[in-house]
Amino acid sequence: MMKPVLRVLAGEPVWPPPIWVMRQAGRYLPEYRELRAKAGSFLDLCYNPALACEVTLQPIRRFGFDAAILFSDILVIPHALGQDVRFVENEGPRLEPVTSAADLARLAEVVPLERLAPVFEALGRIKGALPPETTLLGFCGAPWTVASYMIAGKGTPDQAPARLLAYRDPEFMRALIDRLVAASTAYLVAQVDAGAEAVQIFESFGAALPPALFGPLSLEPVGRIVRGLKEARPHAKVIVFVRGGGPNLRRLVDAGIGDALALDWTLDLAAVLPGIPARIATQGNVDPLALIAGGAPLDRGVDAVLAAARGRPHIFNLGHGILPETPVEHVEHMVRRVRGV
Ligand code: CP3
Repeated sequence: MMKPVLRVLAGEPVWPPPIWVMRQAGRYLPEYRELRAKAGSFLDLCYNPALACEVTLQPIRRFGFDAAILFSDILVIPHALGQDVRFVENEGPRLEPVTSAADLARLAEVVPLERLAPVFEALGRIKGALPPETTLLGFCGAPWTVASYMIAGKGTPDQAPARLLAYRDPEFMRALIDRLVAASTAYLVAQVDAGAEAVQIFESFGAALPPALFGPLSLEPVGRIVRGLKEARPHAKVIVFVRGGGPNLRRLVDAGIGDALALDWTLDLAAVLPGIPARIATQGNVDPLALIAGGAPLDRGVDAVLAAARGRPHIFNLGHGILPETPVEHVEHMVRRVRGV
């Protein structure tokens, strides 16, 4: 019997739709906060296979989600390439900015996968511990999203530093994106070999790109990663999440990249799903803030997704990552409502 998430990714409508939640292992869970307090730094946690496995399993035990997503971060790729990456408490990621060909030359040409060995070991452990019906997801950040952190050294409104550099120094930008395409492809192939059955590519900052840059900086590099992965491992399934992909949805659909498109909360599924051919599965898209609010707004959000997704290959999810303020009971309620129990 094939796992529900993999059936959807093969194009089959499954009812009720399988459910998982982006960033489902994290600070809204008391058991995560407790383990996190003992683990040392956030990167120490990411590179500790036993603890990363435990944290990945926490939301599976609590909610019985249909997919487990590897506990790690998109910034382990710049870290493995040799960039200084730190996570500062209550502030977020801090990196030593890479803004020139000389900076790029100091980073590894080819990603040293041995630096990511703990990630692959974690995947193996998780695979061995998961219930048989639960799909194991790996992931990476899309090149533009990762590049925006590498260039600015931190999260920035509308990714202004990276966008400006893309105009001023397109050659550098192309070299950085190419480096990330190669590293991400190798990383995803290794994740699949370590046990990931499907992977999600997070383009969290797709909204900031004007139409002329969306092609070369997002659509095309993500397409190269997907094609590279599928050439190497034809059975691997891919979910592509472009937050702010709305204005570019037609281009994403027409490019036919990946087995599923994850849609953010700004899209009206009833309006957009009929325009997506059924061979492309979809995922999403309840507003993470409706999940914090709970009550009638949450129920309306859940019901709207269910109504639009019926008869289609769809994976129920939020439209972006779950937030630390989210009450655990609201997640329980959402899962029950989706499953009709
Ligand atoms: O989904 C999961 O449960 C798996 C783990 C996961 C994390 N980060 C753990 C994490 C995944 C898939 C990510 C992806 C990620 N990381 C993205 C893309 C997805 C998205 O939400 O848009 C981005 C942009 C990052 C970069 C990042 N990592 C930021 C901006 C931050 C700080 C902000 C924050 O949420 O705290 C992180 C840290 C981070 N990554 C935490 C977790 C659980 C919190 C750190 C902590 O526990 O102290």
